[in-house]
Parts: sequence; C-alpha cells; structure tokens
Amino acid sequence: MCGIMGYVGKEEAWPIVVGGLRRLEYRGYDSAGVVTVSRKRLRLARSVGHLRALEDSHPEGLPGTVGIGHTRWATHGGVTQANCHPHLDSAQRIAIVHNGIIDNVEALRKELVAQGVEFRSETDTEVLAELIGREVAAGRGLRDAVLRALRRIEGTAGIVAVDRNDPERLVAARIGSPVVIGLGDGACWVASDALALRPYTDRMVVLEDSEIAEISPDGVRTVDLDERDRDKRVEKILHRPEEAEKGDYEHFMLKEIWEQPLALDRSMRGRLDAGMGSSRLGGLETHEQRLFDIRRVVFCACGTSLYSAQVGAYLMNRYARMPATAEDAAELAVQNPIVDRHTLYVAISQSGETADTLGALREIRLRGGLVAGITNVVGSSLARETDFGTYVHAGPEISVCSTKAFTAQVLATELLSLRFARMRDLGANEGRAWVAALEKLPAQTQGMLEQWQLCKQMAERFQAAPYTMFIGRGINVPVASEGALKLKEIAYVSAEGLSGGGMKHGPLALIEPGLPVWALVPPDETRERMLGNLRELEARGAYIIAVAAADDTEVAELVDTVVPLPPHHPTVSPMLTVVPLQLYAYYVALAKGYDIDKPRNLAKSVTVM
Ligand code: M6R
Repeated sequence: MCGIMGYVGKEEAWPIVVGGLRRLEYRGYDSAGVVTVSRKRLRLARSVGHLRALEDSHPEGLPGTVGIGHTRWATHGGVTQANCHPHLDSAQRIAIVHNGIIDNVEALRKELVAQGVEFRSETDTEVLAELIGREVAAGRGLRDAVLRALRRIEGTAGIVAVDRNDPERLVAARIGSPVVIGLGDGACWVASDALALRPYTDRMVVLEDSEIAEISPDGVRTVDLDERDRDKRVEKILHRPEEAEKGDYEHFMLKEIWEQPLALDRSMRGRLDAGMGSSRLGGLETHEQRLFDIRRVVFCACGTSLYSAQVGAYLMNRYARMPATAEDAAELAVQNPIVDRHTLYVAISQSGETADTLGALREIRLRGGLVAGITNVVGSSLARETDFGTYVHAGPEISVCSTKAFTAQVLATELLSLRFARMRDLGANEGRAWVAALEKLPAQTQGMLEQWQLCKQMAERFQAAPYTMFIGRGINVPVASEGALKLKEIAYVSAEGLSGGGMKHGPLALIEPGLPVWALVPPDETRERMLGNLRELEARGAYIIAVAAADDTEVAELVDTVVPLPPHHPTVSPMLTVVPLQLYAYYVALAKGYDIDKPRNLAKSVTVM
C-alpha cells in the first residue's frame, strides 16, 4: 500500500526520492511527502493527491543530499496535508516515514499529551516520531532512539528516520513491514520495495523482522532489537529496470497480459522433467522425504491468488488424488485452524506481502505446520517466512489488477500437483502427456492473445451492461470467478463467477434477454453439462460468449460468439480460458475511460488486515 523511498549520498536527494516514489505509485496512495536535510534544517514538502501535485508545489525541489519520502494510503486519519508523511517530532529535529499500523497508539498518544505534546496530525506515525524525538533529545543517537521507541509500540512498522543534527545517516527498521536497502558506491537507497531501487543498483540487503539498520553513504550496519550485530547477505535484484516500465503499451495491465507467454516460459524453464513425466521444483526437493508423508494439501491466498489456489486444489484432488482445499487466507488466519503434521500448507501471493496471507501462514507455522510458498517477489516476507517455496518468475507486476501472476501461479500449482501426482497415482505416460501440454502452453497462450480484437469488440458492445455473468465447471469455476473479479476491479461492473452446476439453484433468475454471459466450455469432462447450461441461457435470451474448442460446432450453434481454444490437455485449460476474460475486462475499462492500472479504492499490495 504505502511506499517508502530514502537516499543518502553525494547527489541531490529530491529527484531520487521522488523518482523512487513514482516507481512505487502502483501500490496505490492518496498523498505524498518528502523531507530533506540542508544546513542542519529539515526541509519538508507534503501534498494531498498525486506526486505531480507535490512536484508542482515545489518546482525547484528541496535542497540536500539526504532525504526520505512517502506515498501514503490513509489509515489513521483522513486524507489531509497534516496527515501526510514525513512526520516530525515536536522539536522539529527528527523526521520519519512509516508503513504499518501502531495498535497501541491511543495509549501512547494520551501519555504524550499528558506531558504537554500538541499533535498536529491524527496519525499514529506522528506519535512514533515524538517517541523517537524524545529519546534523541535525551542525548541518544538516532539508532538507539529508534530502537527504544520501537520497543514501546505494538503493531507493524517499516520506518526510515533522519536526524537534522546527523544528516549523513538514515536509520531504517522493519517490524513486520518490508524494508530493503540498495548498496552503491558512496550512496545508499532505502525503500519498501526493490522496484524503487533497481534503477540505481542491483545489490540489496533485505531487513528481516525486528532488525534496525544504520545507513550511510559508505554502507549499512544492521542490529536486532537486542542490539546484537546481524550479518547480512547481499542479494541480487533480479529484474531489469525496463521490466518495470510501460514501454509502448498504454497500460501496465495490457503489457502484463501480453507478457504471459514469456512469463509462463520463464516460469517453467528447467522445471519440467520430460523423461520422467514429472516436475522439479528446487525448494520442494529439499523436503522431499517429508512430502511422502503428506496426506492433505491446504492452499491459502487472497483475491486472484485464491483463484489460482482453487485451480491448484482441483488439480491435487483430480490428478494427484490428494485431498486438497483452497482457503481464503483472511478467514483461515482467524479460524483457529486445525494444523496437523501430514498436511502441506501452500501460501500463494504475488507480492508476498499480503497481510492476511502472512497472518495465515504465521498461525500455521506457530502450530508446527509445514508451509510452502508460491510468490513472484524475490525476498518478500512470504519467501522468507515459509519452510520452502518456489518463485513464479513472472517479472514485476505493476498493474493493481493481477494478470500474469495468476497464470504463473496456476502454473506453479500445476508443477506441484504433477509432482505429487507422480509420487502417487499418475503413470509415467500420463505424466509425460501433462509435461508435453505444459511445454505447448506459451505458444498456445500467445494464440489466445491474438484474439484480442474479438474481445475488444465484445467489450465495446457490452461496456454499458450493468451486470455480467461468468460461468464454468470443474477446473474452470475459479477462472469464471477470476473473470468476474477483473471486470469488477477495473471496469466497476457488477459481475459474478459461478459454477454452471449452481445456475438452476438461483442465479438463473438473473438471466434476461441480452445479458452478457461468458461461458467456459473447454472440451473436457464438463462439456456435456455445460451444454445444458448453454441451452438454459439460450432459451432465456442471454448473449452468450463461449470460450470453447474451435471445432465445437454444437457449442457454436448454441451461443452468439465463440472465442476459440486450441486443442489442449484438460489440466492446462485455466491458463488459456482466462486470457480472453482479462482482455475483455481491460477493453471494457478502456472504453469507459477508467484509470486501469490504479482502480479506485484498491492498492496493489494489501499490507493491512
Ligand atoms: O499479492 P497477493 O497475490 O497476495 O494479492 C492478493 C490480492 O490482493 C490480489 O490478487 C487482488 O485480488 C488483485 N488486485 C486482483 O487483481
């Protein structure tokens, strides 16, 4: 949600900090601010709205070679300039930016007000700034001051602080909210997301929970909350800077939709074992012996990732004959889950920072459960906190609306299911057929993308439809839900993804002449029953757009438009059927003129529960 960027070095900090914040814009925010230090004074610029407003209000920028900035998504207090970060202590000596929520803020605020402090904002961050400021005023260095202040708070905090009397240094800390530090020659950068660092460096240090770092132009020194030195590994930032840029595309979402063949190819590279008809997942192999004892798989995730998890659960049940479910992580975390040693929990998250998913995996691990992670973001909290895992390597996903991460996550669940299937019931020939199907997938996905004009036509025709239905059966029920989620999220159209089997039990009442219904009818075991659904819809005058085999004449006769599917193995169909639904949502939103990459009310990474 919120973004943090900081710099300490020899260059002017303002353009670097604002540039970093711009690369974090995709996370969603409602106000922005920067502090620099110059001539032992804190220089502050804050503004409600987009970064452009901040820049317009300070066309010259702010002077100084050290600076911190923040894009804020309001939690404590409304969207006002006074609530924007950075926040200063009452002595105007230190400034901080903060991601996260301080749960015991009211008690702390009361205590400080009783001591005469007059707060200027409604934020929890200003309370933390005051706590740090008081420690500094008592003669402590900034790092010790931050440390002591953090010991007093309950909640989450990714922070960066600066002291006007010690401007050659920043102090950053991570209590549950990500902080990464980029290393350069005579300069360091600090951010809440490696994407902001990549234009400057490809070397970073990732703070673990409860670590504090002192950052100077010469490097970083990290300690834990007990002030013990921590040896930090320097990690490589893997993506190229241009991967996080729009290039010739009008929107990141369109770029990311079109990147799917490449992302799938990258994601499966080196992971298919054509000879054995199986898969190799690096992280998995380190726990192979334990996997033979697994009797149940529980996926957990949120939003789009939950739909990929549902595909995974289907594959596990159907092909690996492994009992599996997909749980909404937000629910699982609070349900007092029964955790047993023969269950493998698989947490899926594009960002690896979704608070609900992290909450669920922490709860499970606390009870001794074995948790695997599937994520796109290297070094994310999910990657660090799971027992083992796999990266989907889809490349940076910037648009709030997730597309390529969905297909790459589905692919990861395919590889996992294939591995389990081969450990259990699936014969070598069937395994080889599955591998062959996966190998064809990038080219087939490309073929689905080539149908963009048809999807655009449909979108323009139905852009004003107030409601759209998506139906599927079996492995395509989650895809129907995903299609509906895309349309809700970026085109603000009321939409539902339903199982064909449930239609007669209620939703059929919604059908009226001309209502757009997307029906997923691949040539698998669900086809016959889906034909029944198509007849019901046709009889009631719905406009049916079917995603079906190119040569399926029976479907073609029942529906208004067919988006053709290539011949494919039934296991891989979600990664093909979802493509036209993504394109359709994109073109409906485009026709309506909406802010596609940053839909209203939403953030890319939901780091609060
Ligand atoms: O980063 P995650 O995959 O954990 O995010 C989970 C959801 O917030 C996310 O998939 C959300 O539903 C997307 N914006 C949907 O496009």
